Amino acid sequence: MKLDALFQPVSFGALTLPNRFVMAPMSRYACPDRIPTPELSAYHRRRAEGRVGLMLTGAAAIDHPAANNSPVLADFRAEAQPAWQRLVRETHDAGGRIALQLWHAGGRFNREPWWHPAPLVSPSGLGGPAFVVGEPLSDEAIVDLVDRFGRAAADARRVGFDAVEIHAAHGFLIDQFFWDRTNMRTDRWGGVHIEDRLAFALAVYRAVRAAVGPGMPVSMRISQWKEQDYKARLATTPDALARWIGPFVDAGVDFVNCSQRRFWEPEFEGSDMNLAGWVKRLTGARTMTIGSIGLDRDVTASFAGDRAAPAPLTGLVERFARGDFDLVGLGRVLLADPHWIEKVRDGRFSELIPFEAGAADVVY
Ligand SMILES: Cc1cc2nc3c(=O)[nH]c(=O)nc-3n(C[C@H](O)[C@H](O)[C@H](O)COP(=O)(O)O)c2cc1C
Repeated sequence: MKLDALFQPVSFGALTLPNRFVMAPMSRYACPDRIPTPELSAYHRRRAEGRVGLMLTGAAAIDHPAANNSPVLADFRAEAQPAWQRLVRETHDAGGRIALQLWHAGGRFNREPWWHPAPLVSPSGLGGPAFVVGEPLSDEAIVDLVDRFGRAAADARRVGFDAVEIHAAHGFLIDQFFWDRTNMRTDRWGGVHIEDRLAFALAVYRAVRAAVGPGMPVSMRISQWKEQDYKARLATTPDALARWIGPFVDAGVDFVNCSQRRFWEPEFEGSDMNLAGWVKRLTGARTMTIGSIGLDRDVTASFAGDRAAPAPLTGLVERFARGDFDLVGLGRVLLADPHWIEKVRDGRFSELIPFEAGAADVVY
């Protein structure tokens, strides 16, 4: 298998990555007071030393009372930023590059049900289809949220991050605006067609871009699936996918992080191309693929307690070689093993280790 191509550098604006491997955003629920710990810094340093091309932090809640859905998930309010700054410094000292994933949970219920810092906010007061969690956001509150995303991006730049990612996937706030099952609005933030429901995400993107300037890469994470419904699909045709993602590419998004649980699954009938392949073909965007790369079970099976064993990279290299995507996202393999990339580079496949249930609870 010709893996060399995945070890070629690539540039996004002012940022050059030495290889194509990106650590997926993975929340580590081990931050008392929602402030990154020294252990979280050391965790990132280890992956930088393990030659990860770019690390995406786990979702970092923007500064808004209802943004974070866990009391132990690091957020990005002012009080947490000195700790993030130390984490970035440690990553850079180890030769790594790191992007902050900007996030708002929206109407998704709180992970620890007893923790309820503020009423949940969402486009139409829904946390999922027909699941009422509050009132629809007012126009004024939506504009304020856009502004807060922009301020978080400005802070990310000041703190020293190399890039930022907008989390617009998995059924959280921005995705709740995309999804017709959670966005019933008839004002400028909603509508019947997918292109009518882009306004919030586009406003967030523009605020973020204005805050970080033209040279700092901004990626956007998207998914068809939602935590609320794994079968949900925002685009059932290539045309709908182009109408959904095209405007962000026209607006200047540097790459689209296309979240799938199994990268080999085709997006539409009649082709074996996956979501990243289609986004790239339809919009010209640079894309990142992800989903069970290097493992034989997907992430939902892992959360259900299954053990995931190392799996060959069959299909990945071939798809990369034909130009389906530019970046390769790694989740659990890097949680389990900071040295996964070096082992693969050196052909030490027998040294790859499984992802055991419970591994996500250990920040090493
Ligand atoms: C412990 C854990 C935490 C996660 N947290 C996030 C997150 O904060 N933001 C996000 O976009 N995805 C999150 N994900 C999803 C991963 O980014 C990734 O898409 C998923 O694990 C599939 O990749 P894999 O099969 O290589 O593990 C998380 C996954 C895991 C296992």
